[in-house]
Amino acid sequence: MFIFGRSKVVSRFRRAPFLLLPVALLAVVSFVAFRPTAKVAMVNIPLGTPLILPTGWSAPNVPVDNPITMEKFVLGRYLFYEKQLSGDQNTSCGTCHDAKYSFSSGVGARAGAFEHASMPARTVPRLLNLGYDSVYTWDGHLHSLEQQVKAAIVKRGDFEADTNVVKSRLSYNPAYVQLFTRAFGSSEISMERIAQAVATFERCLISGNSPYDRYLNGDTKAMSASAVRGMNLFFDTTKTNCSGCHNDQGENAKCSKNIFSDNNYYRTGTFDSTGRDGGGGYTLDTLLGDPGRAAVTKDSGDVGRLRTPTLRNVAMAAPYGANGSVKDLFSVIHRYNQGGKHAFNQDPRIQALGLSYSQEMDMYNFLVALSDTSFVTNPAFQNPGVITASVDDHWVADNMSVYPNPATSFVTITSPDLDGAMEASVISSRGTTLWHHNVYAENGRMQLDLATLPSGTYTVALRSTTKQKMCKIVLEH
Ligand code: HEC
Ligand code: HEC
Repeated sequence: MFIFGRSKVVSRFRRAPFLLLPVALLAVVSFVAFRPTAKVAMVNIPLGTPLILPTGWSAPNVPVDNPITMEKFVLGRYLFYEKQLSGDQNTSCGTCHDAKYSFSSGVGARAGAFEHASMPARTVPRLLNLGYDSVYTWDGHLHSLEQQVKAAIVKRGDFEADTNVVKSRLSYNPAYVQLFTRAFGSSEISMERIAQAVATFERCLISGNSPYDRYLNGDTKAMSASAVRGMNLFFDTTKTNCSGCHNDQGENAKCSKNIFSDNNYYRTGTFDSTGRDGGGGYTLDTLLGDPGRAAVTKDSGDVGRLRTPTLRNVAMAAPYGANGSVKDLFSVIHRYNQGGKHAFNQDPRIQALGLSYSQEMDMYNFLVALSDTSFVTNPAFQNPGVITASVDDHWVADNMSVYPNPATSFVTITSPDLDGAMEASVISSRGTTLWHHNVYAENGRMQLDLATLPSGTYTVALRSTTKQKMCKIVLEH
C-alpha cells in the first residue's frame, strides 16, 4: 500500500528527467511557502507505538481510561523532565530518577518518600517495567502510576508545588497547550491529564534486553559461566531461595519477562545497619525511623517490612535497600549469605546460606547480568530538552521539510540527516503503526506514496542506525 524505495524514485526521475527542474523549483518554493513558522525540537521516539515489548512479553497493565498513545508518550516525556512542575522550578522527576542510573538517583536515600517531611528518607527506586507491578513505593502506599504522579507534585520533599500554579505555568507555554491538545483532544491542562501523560511515559520504560534475557532467548554466550552458575543458585529454592521473593510468582517465573519481584513485603534483616532497632531504625513511630509496610497497615507486625524490589539493573544504582545502608552489591550478597542480622520481624527464609566466596562472586555476576544498557541509553527515554517553540499540525522536525503538506498522495521529505537505508513507520494519531518498512534515502531526500491511506494526520518516523527523525503529515484526499 505504501510504495517507496530507491528504485522507485530513481526510475521515476530517470524516465522523466525533464520533470526534475520543476520539481526542484517547487521544492524550493514549497520550502519557503510551507516552511512552518512554528517548530518544535526534534522528538526522538521509538518507531511504532511507544510501548516496545521484547519478544514473548505479554502487555503490561494499562488502565482502560488511559490507553497508551504516541501523543501522550511525547507529552509525558517532556513533563517527566519538566522543572516547571516543581515549587522551586528547579526539580523534575528526572532529577531524582536519572536515566543513567536506570531512573534511580545514584546518590542514596533521599527525602521525598512521604507526604510528611518528618518521615525518614528512602532510596529512589529504579523505574522500569512499572506496568507489571500492582503497587508502588517501598511500602506499597500507592496503587497506580497516575496516583503517584499527583502525589509527587504536591508532596513535601518532592516538588512541593501548588497545582494551580503548575497548571497556569504550563498553559502559558503554547507548545504545551498544543501537546495537551494533541494528546487529549482539547487544550485543558489538568492534574489528571498531567498524571496520565507522565504515567504513559513511565509505562513505556520497558527493560528486557539484559544479558540474562538474551541468554534465555538462546544466546548462550550472553552470560559468562560464572553468571550462569549464579543464576542457578538464585533460582535454587533449596539453597538460596532468592527467587522465593525476587520472582514473578505467576506465569513469568524463570522466564525472560520476570520482573524479579513478588510485590510483597518482608523484612530481610539484610539492610539493617547496627543499632537500627531502637536507634532510629524501623519503628512504628515515624519520627524515630521508617515503619516500612506498617506505615500503611499500622500493624506492628509489619514494622520494617518493605516491598521486594526488582533486581533488574540493580548493579546500575547503589546504594541498596530502602534506607540505602548497604553501599555495594557484593556486600548485599555477603549479608544475605550471613543470614541477615536476625532482626525483629525478619523473614524466616533469610538464613545463613553457606556460600563460598566464589559462589558469592557467581551470584554477583548473575545480578550484573541483569543490567540492560540499551535501556538506559535509549534515546527515546532521555531528556528531550526544553520546549521553547510552539507546534502546529503541520510541524516538522528541525532540518526537515515536507512537501506538499497537506498532501494527496506523493510526499517528498528532505533533510540533510536522511541518508541511506532507513526504517520508516507511519503512525496514526491514536498511536497505531499502519505501515513499517525499510526505505532508502538518497541525497537527503525520499519520497513516499501515501495514496492508499485514508485522509488524516499521521506521524512519519524515520530511523537509521544513528538517527531518528519524525514529522507530521496531513493527508487530504
Ligand atoms: C526528591 C526526589 C524525587 C523526585 C523529584 C521524584 N521522585 Fe519518584 N521517588 C523518589 C523516592 C525517594 C521514591 C520512593 C518513595 C517511597 O518508597 O516511599 C520514589 C518513588 C517513585 C515511584 C515508585 C517506584 C516503585 O517502583 O515503587 C515512581 C513511579 C516515581 N517515584 C515516579 C516519579 C515521578 C513521575 C516524579 C515526577 C512527578 C518523581 N517520581 C519525582 C524520589 C523522587
Ligand atoms: C523473604 C524475601 C526475600 C528473599 C528470600 C530475598 N530477598 Fe532480596 N530483598 C527483599 C526485600 C524485601 C528487599 C528490600 C529490603 C530493604 O530495603 O530493607 C530486598 C532487597 C534486595 C536487594 C537490594 C535491591 C535494591 O534495589 O536496593 C538485592 C540486591 C537483593 N535483595 C538480592 C537478593 C538475593 C541475591 C537473594 C538471595 C540470596 C535475596 N535477595 C533474597 C526480599 C527478599
